[in-house]
Amino acid sequence: MEATVHDIRGTTHPLDRFARPLHDLRISVMDRCNFRCPYCMPKDKFHPNYQFLQSRERLSFDEIVRLSRVFAGLGVRKLRLTGGEPLLRANLDGLIGDLTAIPGIEDIALTTNGVLLGQHAVELYANGLRRVTVSLDTLDEEIFTRMSGGFAALGQVLHGIDAAIAAGLAPVKVNAVIERGVNDHTALDLVDYFRGKPVIVRFIEFMDVGNRNAWRPDMVVPSRELAARIGERWPMHPISENYRGEVAQRWRFDDGAGEIGFISSVSQPFCGACSRARLSSEGKFYTCLFATEGLDLRAALRAGAGDDELSNVIRGRWLGRTDRYSELRDELRRTEPQPKKIEMYYIGG
Ligand code: GTP
Ligand code: 5AD
Ligand code: SF4
Ligand code: SF4
Repeated sequence: MEATVHDIRGTTHPLDRFARPLHDLRISVMDRCNFRCPYCMPKDKFHPNYQFLQSRERLSFDEIVRLSRVFAGLGVRKLRLTGGEPLLRANLDGLIGDLTAIPGIEDIALTTNGVLLGQHAVELYANGLRRVTVSLDTLDEEIFTRMSGGFAALGQVLHGIDAAIAAGLAPVKVNAVIERGVNDHTALDLVDYFRGKPVIVRFIEFMDVGNRNAWRPDMVVPSRELAARIGERWPMHPISENYRGEVAQRWRFDDGAGEIGFISSVSQPFCGACSRARLSSEGKFYTCLFATEGLDLRAALRAGAGDDELSNVIRGRWLGRTDRYSELRDELRRTEPQPKKIEMYYIGG
């Protein structure tokens, strides 16, 4: 029998094999990026002649809006626009305006590297964006430049964060991926800099996303270890999650200087409540960040499929979903041959 759940209007929404609803859709609007972070788009692979998608291969804004409507009908309430770098897509603010008008969508957020945020914050807010997350791994200029693949843009990113706050996008979230021996010794500086500002820093355990980031378990700094280091300097206490299935564990400083978060998908996987799906910039639908295969929704769209047909295809895929990569990581990493996973830049984190 199909597993479904009813919403307050009596509409049925699909549940996957582990009774998880489809609540959150992360849409990559652009496969290109203006950085070359070694853990995501290493320079040797993403060289100046690398063939990114042609613009006609990317979903158009009309197609994204149409699919988002269909997803909202299946229970999606939260959209996150990602990339690559989403602000490289022209007129992104117009897309946000259209997405805010979709019945059922309660929350729209943007994940960006922040370089172009200073230029766009005001228009993004004016078109209805209320939440932005900036990826920023360190405040050390030299390490920043290394971790972004040679772009000395730290000042621009900090300016982007200030501009977002000034435009009304506060609190801004800052995502910092921590790699042992690379930037872990600078984590406390991030806390120090943003404490007391309308910014929530969240530390992400380095993950084995994609196939080429040379991940090793000993490069992960477990959140417990990092939290202990931070708590020693600034006493803090855990606080409850904002919503079921929130990926970050939240902590508040005892002295009232705000909160920070830890995203511990390696040391404490959170697949049990994972209600997130992903849509690539060319319209493939993925049910896990570590998926090896996507469902081509663009082909269906461009072949003239109606909304019901699209909805049924997505529903069918979600009903059969059994993904829980992070919980099975050790076991799955031992399988031979290793299946090809999708890359982070392509699916947007
Ligand atoms: P909020 O809506 O503000 O709570 O944001 P979020 O935590 O949903 O989104 P965000 O994009 O800031 O997620 C932060 C990071 O957590 C991502 O970039 C990923 O690195 C990681 N992450 C998010 N979702 C998942 C997931 O489903 N699985 C795993 N393994 N990691 C995830
Ligand atoms: N592990 C953890 N987080 C990662 N991100 C990119 N690659 C990884 C990885 N291997 C983060 C980016 C950004 C978000 C989109 O995903 O830094 O914050
Ligand atoms: Fe670009 Fe983000 Fe990937 Fe870095 S992690 S290369 S900023 S998409
Ligand atoms: Fe969800 Fe897959 Fe991440 Fe688990 S590993 S939380 S199933 S996206």
